[in-house]
Amino acid sequence: MNILHLLRDHFRQALLALNIADPDKFLDLVKPATDPRFGDYQANLAMPLGKLLGRPPREVAADIVAKLDLDEVAEAPEVAGPGFINLRLRSDWLANQLLAILPDERLGVAKVGNPQTIVIDYSSPNVAKPMHVGHLRSTIIGDALARTLRFLGHCVITDNHLGDWGTQFGMLIYGYKHYRDDEALKRDPVREMLRLYVLVRQKIKEAGGASEDEEEEAANPIAEACRRETAKLHAGDPENLELWRRMMPWCLAELERIYRRLDIHFDYTLGESFYHPMLAEVVQDLLQRGIATYSDDAVVVFLGDQQPPAIIRKRDGAFTYMTTDLATIRYRIEKFHPQAILYVVDFRQSLHFQQLFTIARRWGYRDVRLEHISFGSVLGADRKPIKTREGGAIELEALLDEAVRRARAIVDANSPDLPEAQRAEIAEAVGIGAVKYADLAQNRTSDYVFNWDKMLAMDGNTATYMQYAYARIRSIFRKGEISPEEIQRVRESPQLPTPEERNLALWLLRLPEAVENAANEYKPNYITSYLWELANAYNAVYQNYPILRAPDETLRRSRLVLCDLTARAIGLGLSLLGIRTVEQM
Ligand code: ARG
Repeated sequence: MNILHLLRDHFRQALLALNIADPDKFLDLVKPATDPRFGDYQANLAMPLGKLLGRPPREVAADIVAKLDLDEVAEAPEVAGPGFINLRLRSDWLANQLLAILPDERLGVAKVGNPQTIVIDYSSPNVAKPMHVGHLRSTIIGDALARTLRFLGHCVITDNHLGDWGTQFGMLIYGYKHYRDDEALKRDPVREMLRLYVLVRQKIKEAGGASEDEEEEAANPIAEACRRETAKLHAGDPENLELWRRMMPWCLAELERIYRRLDIHFDYTLGESFYHPMLAEVVQDLLQRGIATYSDDAVVVFLGDQQPPAIIRKRDGAFTYMTTDLATIRYRIEKFHPQAILYVVDFRQSLHFQQLFTIARRWGYRDVRLEHISFGSVLGADRKPIKTREGGAIELEALLDEAVRRARAIVDANSPDLPEAQRAEIAEAVGIGAVKYADLAQNRTSDYVFNWDKMLAMDGNTATYMQYAYARIRSIFRKGEISPEEIQRVRESPQLPTPEERNLALWLLRLPEAVENAANEYKPNYITSYLWELANAYNAVYQNYPILRAPDETLRRSRLVLCDLTARAIGLGLSLLGIRTVEQM
């Protein structure tokens, strides 16, 4: 049960009783209190309503309070200042709610009443070169959103829209034909492909071009040769197609290894190559409907004065990223009938998605919500996009290895007695968890500075801190020789005699708010912020009051109930972020 929704429902009834038309407009103003001294929740709607009705807000607040029927849930509401309504939930009500969620594996988080089909396009790296740190955010944020939306009951379809057909394959094919080392290829094809890729890029640079992607580089002989290889591939040249078919499994195996390590699984991996056969027809269709036109032998869609036109077929006949994305939208809509398609992609592609969505709507796809879930960059200590010391992109795998190595040091220091294999497993969960959490804890739209020490801190808003709190609770149960299941069968409401216990109870009941906010705004940081508050509320209990040695049996059981619920809320919250817990740490 979502407390905020419950309170808003009550306010809606009160406003209706006062003949306020359209009460929902004001309900956003019922929210968690900013200062706990004034209560748990507050409603600031008397001020705008006072204005609307031409009456003093305090009077309006008093009228609302008179109509509010919250006796079972809250203490008598207080009107403060210019008309704030302060609400303090009743402790016995909180205790009863805790009892209600105790046996519930969803901990009170309801499924949505109107499940939707939602396609999530995320990770989607350009293959043929190793994944680097730039692929981290899309992969991690997309996975967290998929898990959260699915948990809420939506039908989520994840699709990894691989860049498996672009210019980088032209470069690889060129490199393969001219510079390959057959021995190295046999030993480690992925390494050899990386070497070829880097080498060809270097050659392009030496030949005078800064970038391998731009059309203007046509004057650059190597870039031009690579472009020709790409064009031949796209035209169905048997040799290049055969090379592409040989290279793809190497690329996929490499990706798969990292995904497995990150515990990320896709329902579909339909890369750009999958759509290639549809592109000519898409362009024809857009031309026929008058949405696209010829311009200098290219085919473009004009988008008004505010936006540059979108090219969907270049003068040389090549299709573009845009053409592929248009074909993809049509395919997804025809195959999955989704209500929404989410694209978890770097903010730098904003213009592309703006154009894409505009064209898709003109094309007739108006009933589907198309959303660019944009995010900022990962920065190094110098506040520039993070790079290796040599200036290259940090390979994702090296980054994960480093995280696990650092986590291992922590585990070794904390639990030297655990067997080697178990310590290695804990280090993997802690290291990977730290990387994911550090990313998800940011408001996704901002950049963030990558910082090893911060992300593995035992006492900050980190996965490590949450995993540690979880493991510590588990150890209480082990020490007391009590099984969590036994506590979950308790049938009397817990006691909440101290402010710390009451506060913890409140946070335990706010999990649904956090999960629903994260889903509604596509922002997993609602969940991390929640976990941080929860873990702090728990620590305040743990540090001030004995649990196993509580003064009497009832209180001991009550505190164990709070402990069990805390561990499960942390476990559930982390699982929605794709982060594992460990029983010992
Ligand atoms: N492969 C692209 C890149 O690495 C991202 C693709 C995102 N998805 C899409 N449907 N455009 O930049």
